[in-house]
Amino acid sequence: MEFNIAVLPGDGVGPEVIAEAIKVLQAVGEKFRHKFQFHNGLIGGIAIDTTGTALSQDTLNMCKQCDAVLLGAVGGPKWDDPQAKIHPEDGLLALRKELGLFANLRPVKVLPMLVNSTSLKPEIIEGVDLVIVRELTGGLYFGQPKRQWQTPEGRQAVDTLSYSEAEIERILRVGFELARNRGKKLTSVDKANVLQSSRLWRQIAIEISADYPDVELQHMLVDACAMRLIQHPTDLDVLVTENMFGDILTDEASMLAGSMGMLPSASLAGIPEGKTFGMYEPIHGSAPRRAGQNMANPIATILSAAMMLRYSFGLEIEAQAIENTVLAVLEQGYRTYDIMSEGKTRVGTKEMGELIAQRVKS
Ligand code: IPM
Ligand code: MG
Repeated sequence: MEFNIAVLPGDGVGPEVIAEAIKVLQAVGEKFRHKFQFHNGLIGGIAIDTTGTALSQDTLNMCKQCDAVLLGAVGGPKWDDPQAKIHPEDGLLALRKELGLFANLRPVKVLPMLVNSTSLKPEIIEGVDLVIVRELTGGLYFGQPKRQWQTPEGRQAVDTLSYSEAEIERILRVGFELARNRGKKLTSVDKANVLQSSRLWRQIAIEISADYPDVELQHMLVDACAMRLIQHPTDLDVLVTENMFGDILTDEASMLAGSMGMLPSASLAGIPEGKTFGMYEPIHGSAPRRAGQNMANPIATILSAAMMLRYSFGLEIEAQAIENTVLAVLEQGYRTYDIMSEGKTRVGTKEMGELIAQRVKS
């Protein structure tokens, strides 16, 4: 089969990790006889420098014409001035919104050979296998009003946490569907003791849980969830939550896996079934200090490509082939700097990509 993939490498280590994911996809294409066509576009800081906007109309149109989007990372110190009119991150937010990518799936799996590479006790994180479903196109990130202004008493600013019933329902349904296909337990994370938007969220969760009698629904306050994630992470399976709560909890949860360099993500435009349009990116950022040094761990991006095969192309066997190969290469002792430990073989970005690509073919 033939698939068209929009490739947006972005800034910092983005282009380096993307190059390795493409290598692996090409290897999968050869082995399983699929044709992946790659179409490059600009996003983030590099797009600001070349086109004056963080997401050009050309890039957006190109993404819409493709079957899925593969993204590296955006941002860097060059574009960090808070006074600047445009920020690289604006491009990413606009892309999520314009493509309707409301469901962000961030799986966190602790691999047995890496239980000693984290700052948490091995007995706490052993066996962690959870997925956070983060609402991605609403809430505090997008609610209006959103602005800063001057008052006689000083400066003032506002952001708005707003959700419609429809927005809440569709993201909760993604959570329920995933839970149905996993441990049949869904944890809905909110702040219903304080926020109106969370009270509505909780109410809707209870209402639609009637459609999923096989799934056990549990509510958890976001502050308690932050605690539970590092105290008893194995209690958790599928979590579903508001945009900013999800932003914070997914960074926290990523530490369970030892390195952000290991964690993929999918941002989907619908409930995952058959072939859903989506964007795939590592959860780490552009890591400007590591850029251009062949250091960055490409595994998060390679695993994101596997998620693309699974959710947007319906290629489950091929997705598993990538995931199993990553495990095998780690099993052989190869490590990038971020997951390096004594007695292992340190490799760079390119070598790690090459090892995975070669092995996936065999
Ligand atoms: C993420 C990032 C983005 C976000 C930034 C880069 C805008 O932190 O994908 O989690 O806050 O959503
Ligand atoms: Mg984040």
